[in-house]
Amino acid sequence: MHISISGLLGAWLALTAVAKPVGEPELQSRATDFTNPILWQDHPDLDVSRVGDVFYYSSSTFAFSPGAPVLKSYDLVNWTPVSHSVPRLDFASKYNLNSATDRAYVKGIWASSLQYRKSDDTFYWIGCIEGKTYVYSSPNSGAGANNGEVNNWNWSLRATINKCYYDCGLFFDDDNTVYVAYGNTDIQVAQLSNDVKSEVRSQSVYKGSVTIEGSRMYKVNGNYYIFVTRPANEEWVLKSKSPFGPYEQKVLVASISGPISNAGYAHQGGIVGTKDNKWYYIGFLDAYPGGRIPVSAPITWGSDGWPSLVKVNNGWGLTYPMPVSTSKTVPAPVGTDNFSSSALSHEWEWNHNPDTTKWKLTNGVQLQTATITNDLFTARNTLTHRIIGPKSHGTFRIDVSKMQDGDRAGAALFRDVAAYIGIYKEGSSSRLVMVNNLSLNSDWSTKSTGTIAATGPTLASGATDVWLRVQADITPAFSGGATRQTTFWYSTDGNNFQQLGPAFGMTNTWQFFTGYRFAVFNHATKALGGQITVKSFTMQKY
Ligand SMILES: *[C@@H]1O[C@H](CO)[C@@H](O)[C@H](O)[C@H]1NC(C)=O
Ligand SMILES: *[C@@H]1O[C@H](CO)[C@@H](O)[C@H](O)[C@H]1NC(C)=O
Ligand SMILES: *[C@@H]1O[C@H](CO)[C@@H](O)[C@H](O)[C@H]1NC(C)=O
Repeated sequence: MHISISGLLGAWLALTAVAKPVGEPELQSRATDFTNPILWQDHPDLDVSRVGDVFYYSSSTFAFSPGAPVLKSYDLVNWTPVSHSVPRLDFASKYNLNSATDRAYVKGIWASSLQYRKSDDTFYWIGCIEGKTYVYSSPNSGAGANNGEVNNWNWSLRATINKCYYDCGLFFDDDNTVYVAYGNTDIQVAQLSNDVKSEVRSQSVYKGSVTIEGSRMYKVNGNYYIFVTRPANEEWVLKSKSPFGPYEQKVLVASISGPISNAGYAHQGGIVGTKDNKWYYIGFLDAYPGGRIPVSAPITWGSDGWPSLVKVNNGWGLTYPMPVSTSKTVPAPVGTDNFSSSALSHEWEWNHNPDTTKWKLTNGVQLQTATITNDLFTARNTLTHRIIGPKSHGTFRIDVSKMQDGDRAGAALFRDVAAYIGIYKEGSSSRLVMVNNLSLNSDWSTKSTGTIAATGPTLASGATDVWLRVQADITPAFSGGATRQTTFWYSTDGNNFQQLGPAFGMTNTWQFFTGYRFAVFNHATKALGGQITVKSFTMQKY
């Protein structure tokens, strides 16, 4: 794979912008229609289900930690993260980002599954990580007795099964028998023990003539279904009277146009029914540079038991009627996080497992330097946040007064080809820099630790707070080839922002899987001991 950087020719502008007021409503309205995507954020390999009035959504996170976020919605359209199924990536020591040669980029949590079992009031997450299957569970949730609301998320590792259930879909039958559909091309069904800790039996149930994967298993009106994707254009449905087959096959969607241009075709999704028995298929679009974003469309069931997608002008609709009419709502994905809660919100994920001795919540997120390195890709405790599309900026307010000689802190546009605006502390001087051309090779070793593309002013001695802003246009350019641009800005008063350095052209390649994220970092190049405090983060569309 060739990674190229373009767009370095952007003008060296010094523009002034005024910060927008925070808290503007960004939820989809309760009008009669919703607009795709249902959440313009990188949440791939989704597994969506419903408990009472609440829909839950799980997605894959690779080497970000905690892993496998759980999102919640009351209407299938507005979503907010409420938990993570995998509190820490304890699969191997490389998930701690030990060194430049002991890292886990693009490994970790791939397509996995989240389901609730009413009989024991427990949420189960299951996924294959590098050859083994891990089961996490969160018991005593209260969801069954409380219309889907969870009083207490309490995830822990429940079992390790010494076999890979690749791209698995978990399914609890009416009699509580536990099944997992999984595999690539040769689709298998395993029955697990009732405690979801071991395999009872497993067999092949359907052999594809082409690559199929991403299994999701359901029972609707007495039929068993396995939904699989033929990547990256199609979704197939397998149907049987028995969990172990034989299964018949039909295509649900194949390369249907829409609903967003310059993105891929909706695929690798799942289905969910509302309380009043309306059904939806939700798949994701390859929407790089932003990652993979979910789109939804209603499905109907024929009298023969096969589902069909409700199309608009023979394509995937940009809008459809709102699935659920409800007054219950979730927080908007934009706004300010001032870190006043007792824990980090589930909007945040670290790049690999953090060193927990080197950060804490104390009037903000205090990030002590955790690694001595000149390589951001090897520095521990970089905190990341998904970008909301199609265009948004993330602004970190950072107290830099306790940085030490050699420390580097900043706000990054983080991916395998990255850039940042930051502070280089040299002696007692704090210099603003914009750095681009950080990149990884195709084997995810570091190719370039970056190039200073622009130097800004030196902060006044005794300066405490600086605002660093990353303004990103993640409008899909996956099949269109256009290069989307990001610009980097700073402010010393939180109101007047100056751009620093050229616009940075984002890569649209898919191989890193995770899309671009906002990130904040602090690492040492000389000695540990320095720290910054991230006092707030504001994400707004522009
Ligand atoms: C969470 O689960 C652990 C066992 O894994 C248990 O010891 C603890 O009491 C639980 N915490 C809560 C708040 O339920
Ligand atoms: C932090 O945010 C919360 C919730 O929006 C707000 O109530 C609180 O006043 C804020 N604290 C500060 C110090 O800004
Ligand atoms: C980017 O990094 C690569 C690899 O270190 C280097 O060859 C190239 O010259 C750099 N490009 C710029 C514009 O600095």
